[in-house]
Amino acid sequence: MFIRHLVDFNDLSLAEWDILFDTARDIMDNPSKYMKSCEGRIMATLFFEPSTRTMFSFQSAMLRLGGQIIGFSEPKNSSVSKGEVLKDTIKVISGYADIITIRHPLEGAAFAAAQECKDTALINAGDGGHLHPTQTLTDLTTIRMEKGRTDDLTIGMCGDLINGRTVHSLIKAMSHFKNIKFYFISPANLKVPQRLLSMLARKGYEYTETESLEEAIPHLDILYMTRIQRERFTSEEEYNRSKGIYVLNREKLASAKPDMLVMHPLPRVDEISHDVDDDERAVYFKQARYGMYIRMALIYHMLNSPTENVPLPKLTDTDAYCDNPRCITNHEHYLKPMFARVKSHPDIRYCVYCEKQYKN
Ligand code: NCD
Repeated sequence: MFIRHLVDFNDLSLAEWDILFDTARDIMDNPSKYMKSCEGRIMATLFFEPSTRTMFSFQSAMLRLGGQIIGFSEPKNSSVSKGEVLKDTIKVISGYADIITIRHPLEGAAFAAAQECKDTALINAGDGGHLHPTQTLTDLTTIRMEKGRTDDLTIGMCGDLINGRTVHSLIKAMSHFKNIKFYFISPANLKVPQRLLSMLARKGYEYTETESLEEAIPHLDILYMTRIQRERFTSEEEYNRSKGIYVLNREKLASAKPDMLVMHPLPRVDEISHDVDDDERAVYFKQARYGMYIRMALIYHMLNSPTENVPLPKLTDTDAYCDNPRCITNHEHYLKPMFARVKSHPDIRYCVYCEKQYKN
């Protein structure tokens, strides 16, 4: 392993993902071997946004490796409530902890925080509607454990595909595997961002966009359900128009393949009815448990292997600024905007923090 920070799943090579998966399996089989592997080390969990699974799975992962934890789950309990900027919080905490996990409502916050961590490892536990790479590790672990492979699969993603960061990270990750077909099931206002569709097209992946779950379901090996992300809507009326739009129930599941997996990053609101929970194909609670093991593997390697910073892309357009209102650069004004160009399409530049693309 050579990574210091995990901001995006693409910070890992596929060989590193294989190492992480093998380690997670070994931890599941031989937990006692790892019980003291992070003894004397401290993890800080800085959660500027609510979480149940992600924060507790990171904390239990660190405790099961023999490490200790500090942190907050509510910025009101930290100096952030006094107006402290992210840079200062990170600079201070990185002097206390060996590894930081950060969840933040703004896109690009984890990348900005990583730039301040010189000797401390940093993990993105979700940055606004942008990315959530450790949920992706969780999802890939589930797929590999339950299907035995991550190639040759048709995956349907259903729900709020514009705001769902787990979906964005998973699409990026699946685009490294062979023979993957995608079904994107969402209403017109919640479709997958264009930059991800263009990326799939450039890499030659087949995808279908549809509003109908019923139509897509018979084709799928995996159905990845997501909730409508209430906190990312600008108005309650807009949220109300989209909520409750998809509900997976036993009746709909009847037309699915007998070995299709039903996955969900959780929390579920109403998009999977409770009568699906007992179906063998429903693996979302197992998925949450796999998440703890793969996070153990990640922490173990980040703290015990030689690491290197993920190199920055070649920066261009140093005088430009990002107009995405949810981008961290529009909130933390000391940050220097950074832009790079898509390698295969140099006419497209993107903000290195939030990845918003611009054509010129
Ligand atoms: C997800 C998240 O926070 O993005 N939850 C999680 O980490 N398991 C999904 C969600 O909140 O809908």
